[in-house]
Amino acid sequence: MPELVQCLPAKYYADARYYEAERREIFNKEWQCVGFDHQLEAPGSYVKESIAGTDVFVRRGNDGALRAFHNACPHRGGPIVTDDAGRAGNIVCRYHGWAFGEDGGLLNARDFGAEVPGDTCLRGARVDTWRGVVFVNLDVDARPLGDWFGGWDERMAEWDMEDAEFHSRHVHPIECNWKTYMDNYLEGYHVPLVHPLLNQMTEGTKYRVWNHGDRRWNIHLTPHPDGVDIPGTFMCMWPNFAMDIYPEGWSTERWLPRGPHRTDLIRDYRLDRAYAMLKNREGRVGEIALRTGFVNEKHFATVFRERFGMPPSQVSGQRN
Ligand code: FES
Ligand SMILES: [Fe+2]
Repeated sequence: MPELVQCLPAKYYADARYYEAERREIFNKEWQCVGFDHQLEAPGSYVKESIAGTDVFVRRGNDGALRAFHNACPHRGGPIVTDDAGRAGNIVCRYHGWAFGEDGGLLNARDFGAEVPGDTCLRGARVDTWRGVVFVNLDVDARPLGDWFGGWDERMAEWDMEDAEFHSRHVHPIECNWKTYMDNYLEGYHVPLVHPLLNQMTEGTKYRVWNHGDRRWNIHLTPHPDGVDIPGTFMCMWPNFAMDIYPEGWSTERWLPRGPHRTDLIRDYRLDRAYAMLKNREGRVGEIALRTGFVNEKHFATVFRERFGMPPSQVSGQRN
């Protein structure tokens, strides 16, 4: 029998003071997925994301390099980009029109009427990509993305991920603290009620979570009713990122804090090209999405509303 594990006391989920500490100590320091290569192919293309309340954008420069900046002008904090994704030939603040160069340095303070300090620039952030996934770190001195992965990317090497193309994005706004979703991801106990389709294909009571020495990431396995593991890997990485890999393609999940009690769960699906063409011809949605994304929506919402504010004595025995 697995050991019972005590959950964090409820105050860590409910008290906004802990959320502020998490913003400072976790989200200002850890790598965060913000998008994908296919969104950033053309010069000037960008994606914008809020990392626990800090807006950043990543832009493909005319020289082909990716750069990340805080989406806040050094003048009075105006936004540089306003859409979640798009194309900006020039980097110009939307408030008073200051213009910045590719590297974020100030080019022109439109009609300002006073001298601006020569080192005025957009505040930068770290950016790197891994197999088509774009990550940002607000800490410019953060360790490199490859080091942060630990042994995770080696584990992924066996999977051919590059032959899959973007299929769709699904966003679930959920009313809970981001850690509540993390807790949920770390157990398969909820599969029968929340993922009825996945439950038809697997034996939920045999769902397993494996740690491999590095407590920041783990792998999940679930068998078919005949006892053979589904060919694929569910991978969960601290603090808020996961990948689900199947023979037909792969998907990413991010649970982004939008406040102490609100989280956006964002799933992006990719399908193997041959499989996607087959499914499109048949006019059906990819099976990968059916397996993971199309949860029992009503139940899902109810679960996350009710779990917020859970009593401190609540325990979970599914981790090992
Ligand atoms: S806030 Fe950006 S130019 Fe004024
Ligand atoms: Fe789930």
